[in-house]
Amino acid sequence: MDAYADDIEKVLIKADEIQAKLVEMGEQITRDYEGRKLLLIGVLKGAFVVMADLSRALTIHCRMDWMAVSSYGSGSQSSGVVRILKDLSTDVTGLHVLLVEDIIDTGLTLSYLVSNLRSRGPASLNVLTVFRKPEAARNPVDITYVGFDIPNEFVVGYGLDYDGLYRNLTSVGALSPHVYS
Ligand code: IMP
Repeated sequence: MDAYADDIEKVLIKADEIQAKLVEMGEQITRDYEGRKLLLIGVLKGAFVVMADLSRALTIHCRMDWMAVSSYGSGSQSSGVVRILKDLSTDVTGLHVLLVEDIIDTGLTLSYLVSNLRSRGPASLNVLTVFRKPEAARNPVDITYVGFDIPNEFVVGYGLDYDGLYRNLTSVGALSPHVYS
């Protein structure tokens, strides 16, 4: 029985397309970080899926650590005021940091994280996101690796949730209206 069958109105990006993109990004990152001390930082909760796939697409050594943040705001709107719920257990000084995000919407959360991490003195700091929405273009933060530019609609799957559900869906899709009501 497929628990998603009635809940997903349309699939935007299929599981095999996402996997192919992760392999491609992994090969690029392997080339870019050859010979460097790489630390992947995943932003919980959503990035656990991309971290698992991306890290296994790399053929260089990497360390992994996690941050959890919550954005103050009304409803689903990000405010840019961010609270750190879980901080790193790694000292990033001198490390080449790649911040791994599932999705960038307004980019406000990302802006905060980038300036916070930069102040800790990494050797370099780049950002990867699997999905990026058009709003992100208004934000000045550079994103080095982008998987897919997607339309401005709410999506779930591949780590992205609605009310804590759908993170384990292997493709990414838009929810049927009946789920919200
Ligand atoms: P930003 O600060 O507006 O870029 O918000 C980014 C965060 O909002 C992401 O890390 C997600 O947790 C959440 N988010 C934004 N868009 C979506 C979506 O379409 N589905 C699920 N979560 C989303």
